[in-house]
Amino acid sequence: MIPYGRQSVSADDIAAVVAALESDWLTCGPRVEEFEQRFAEFVRAEHAVAVNSGTAALHLAMLAAGIGPGDHVITSPNTFLASANAAAFVGATPDFCDIDRLSYTLCPDSLRKCWRPETRAVVAVDYAGHPSQVSEIAEFAHSQNAIVIEDACHSIGGVLHSGKEVVHIGGNNWADMTTFSFHPVKSMTTGEGGMLTTNNPEFAERARIFRSHGMIRQPELFTGLAGNAFPEQGPWYYEMQELGYNYRITDLQCALGISQLQRLPRFLERRREIVQRYHAAFQTLPHLTPPAVRAGVDPEQIAWHLYTVLIDFQAIGKTRTDVMSALRERGVATQVLYIPVYLQPWYAKTYGYKPGKCPNAEWYYERALSLPLFPAMTDEDVETVIQSVKEVLPGGGA
Ligand SMILES: Cc1ncc(COP(=O)(O)O)c(C=O)c1O
Repeated sequence: MIPYGRQSVSADDIAAVVAALESDWLTCGPRVEEFEQRFAEFVRAEHAVAVNSGTAALHLAMLAAGIGPGDHVITSPNTFLASANAAAFVGATPDFCDIDRLSYTLCPDSLRKCWRPETRAVVAVDYAGHPSQVSEIAEFAHSQNAIVIEDACHSIGGVLHSGKEVVHIGGNNWADMTTFSFHPVKSMTTGEGGMLTTNNPEFAERARIFRSHGMIRQPELFTGLAGNAFPEQGPWYYEMQELGYNYRITDLQCALGISQLQRLPRFLERRREIVQRYHAAFQTLPHLTPPAVRAGVDPEQIAWHLYTVLIDFQAIGKTRTDVMSALRERGVATQVLYIPVYLQPWYAKTYGYKPGKCPNAEWYYERALSLPLFPAMTDEDVETVIQSVKEVLPGGGA
């Protein structure tokens, strides 16, 4: 079975993890800092904070920005649950504006319409690797004193614009913070893991504090224990000034991350090659819409994570389940990403969200199917997927 996504682990990756296991550090050691530095350099960010998941990075972004009860946070409905849940974790209200019908990312016009006086943050999700319209989103959000968090879990190593000025996802000033996931289906992996990048030193510092229980060890920040009890502040001394979490990542994971980061350019290149072959094969297939690229975005610079096609199931007279089973019989696994988050029972029950809230996201969800895309796919695998889709869909000529 060809899965829809899969990690690629080499002998070098394994050797890097074994070396970490044989070292003095299993949890937060020198490899965490090295991974942060190398990742920051890769995306041209001033600061990078490594954590144990993309979800943790999103939660830390909310905490670092001081988002909390009474605040309203807008995100895309076409995302994994975590992009919205992070706002709920801090007691803010997650809300959703619609996506555009071309890149399936957050639509700036819809964002303006959904805006409320209490909106404090926007989480723009780079669905499938296609960059969100962060410059336009940021221009508006910043004018309203809100911040922009770019959820780049799908777009590790992508750029927003190329040509004269290359603007890296994770290293630009439109997004106040950018979050990444290193889950095995993503473009590089640490097993579980994530990263928050920012050019704002205060956000980075706060994210580091919340990453480890809200503890600080810098004497210049100490305020003293309750009632100034036990004033001696020796080398053991620490203070907890915020309610933080254990979101630390380990040296083992970062050893893998450092090694995978070196392989990332090749991973992305292979993903683009496969996307090109799919594009060429599917461009003229009736009832199927391949992913498109918004004007101004360089297709050569997209860090494709998913290859999601839209299929007009009504027109072909088959359900999505039928199509998925027929592909599965041919050895091709597919996935549906994503159900509009606001339709989830918890969101409906907690915030009263109803069908019809984001018509484009629902239109998209009815049609979406993600085909296999990962760097270890052989040319034969790619051909199997193409032929299988052509066999299963009418008009494929196979
Ligand atoms: C868009 C998006 N945001 C956030 C996450 C959460 O990342 P993680 O699984 O590393 O917690 C994911 C991962 O599935 C994702 O795809």
